[in-house]
Amino acid sequence: MRIAVVGSGYVGLVAGACLADLGHDVILVDNDQSKVTELRNGHVPIHEKFLPELLTRHRGQRLIFSDDLKQAVGLSAAIFVAVGTPPTESGEADLSYVESVAREISGGISDYKVVIEKSTVPVYTSDWVRKIILRSGTDPQSFDVVSNPEFLREGTAVTDFLFPDRIVIGCDSLRSAEVLREIYAPLTDGSYYRRSDAIPQPDRASIPPPIIVTSAKSAELIKHASNAFLALKISFINAVASVCESVGANVNQVVHGIGTDTRIGPKFMNPGIGYGGSCFPKDVMAFRAVARECGYDFRLLDEVMRINEDQRQRFLRKVRSALWTLRGKKLGVLGLAFKGGTDDIRESPAIFLVQALVQEGCKITAYDPAAMGRAQEVIGSSVCYAKSPYEAARDADALLILTEWEEFSNLDLDRIRGELKYPIVIDGRNLYDPEEMAAEGFSYYSVGRAASYPDGVPTTILRNSKKA
Ligand SMILES: NC(=O)c1ccc[n+]([C@@H]2O[C@H](COP(=O)([O-])OP(=O)(O)OC[C@H]3O[C@@H](n4cnc5c(N)ncnc54)[C@H](O)[C@@H]3O)[C@@H](O)[C@H]2O)c1
Repeated sequence: MRIAVVGSGYVGLVAGACLADLGHDVILVDNDQSKVTELRNGHVPIHEKFLPELLTRHRGQRLIFSDDLKQAVGLSAAIFVAVGTPPTESGEADLSYVESVAREISGGISDYKVVIEKSTVPVYTSDWVRKIILRSGTDPQSFDVVSNPEFLREGTAVTDFLFPDRIVIGCDSLRSAEVLREIYAPLTDGSYYRRSDAIPQPDRASIPPPIIVTSAKSAELIKHASNAFLALKISFINAVASVCESVGANVNQVVHGIGTDTRIGPKFMNPGIGYGGSCFPKDVMAFRAVARECGYDFRLLDEVMRINEDQRQRFLRKVRSALWTLRGKKLGVLGLAFKGGTDDIRESPAIFLVQALVQEGCKITAYDPAAMGRAQEVIGSSVCYAKSPYEAARDADALLILTEWEEFSNLDLDRIRGELKYPIVIDGRNLYDPEEMAAEGFSYYSVGRAASYPDGVPTTILRNSKKA
């Protein structure tokens, strides 16, 4: 099928590349001319596993890049809208990008088209998109608007798209549902997974994925409610972690104890410095605003957001209590991305913490495997950037772990201890075992678990006894 994907950001670019891999002819449209040129020239603008391979495989063949939306609409049977829906000051989703795309699409509709919302949007958006397209005099029979929310996670976006838990299609006509079924047929009939050049199957995948057909409104709500629930799970376990800290319990043991209950499950039960990224913060706020608009006061979501904010402040207090005064302290920071596996720093708790610590007079040397370029655009030269975790740790008063990159859980601890001025690690992602860290000679602070010290003595007064 000939498909247009509008917006070549994290979602649009991954969706476009994956749809091409399913065998469709994709025109990826963006109104950022420089992005289009870069993509045409072979540049891969985001860090995402398997994306470079897919772009190399399909660029210039099944995947072409354009800034001409009207022409792309004219050539396509289905148009995915994957532009941003950032929060406004009041927390609602800013739908101006979606509206402007809807207006442009209306100019290109000649024969039957399906317009598909891929962006995360509030309930009723599909109605609005339809109204906007109709306003320009478009024949009501010549198009349908469908909601097909995207559940991919940055860092594993390609495999999430190709091996989804489910595909939700929110449509109000049989004709549009058929088009969506055809688009995803290589996944739902399993033919994609039998191909020798298919992207490797992740462990957890249940294939083929089920299709869930709902009304457009239900699909819009499914996406907001899913993200709100996942954020709630994170805030819940972070609140439990705070109680664990107060009573000297170990949150890992508590998570194991509750997560083995199949009604609860262990996923998204990782205590830390809170959720971030371009989705959870904005989607929880937007869902809160949607509920208010519809007459329901969803105060539970206020608490989810409050706990998340508090988690960052708790971490700052932990740094202060480990180091006492902060002015002039030299800190090594591991991680700037909002999560491991991505270069995305939007709403990153790590960036927030770095900025707060710089504000308090700390001198920071940071390392991130993928996000330093983007971080530099935001925090500039207020911090130094290292080429490795070991360089970040060099001569620092403490090492902070702020992003759960896999490479940060496999550090050469002898080497890290040798680099640090004081062997203090403050881990916002619980990547290490407290007892093992103490045995390695570190004073180790984490989330929801008691601090551990070598020989039971905090390092602030012990100095780096094991330093060579
Ligand atoms: N990032 C994620 O993990 C994720 C996951 C699921 C859903 N979503 C949702 O998907 C949507 C897109 O998110 P993203 O992270 O890809 O955003 P993004 O900011 O990375 O990308 C948006 C792209 O749209 C382009 N654009 C804006 N207006 C345009 C127009 N009029 N014509 C053509 N292109 C235009 C921008 O130039 C940009 O390249 C959002 O609604 C988001 O909530 C994101």
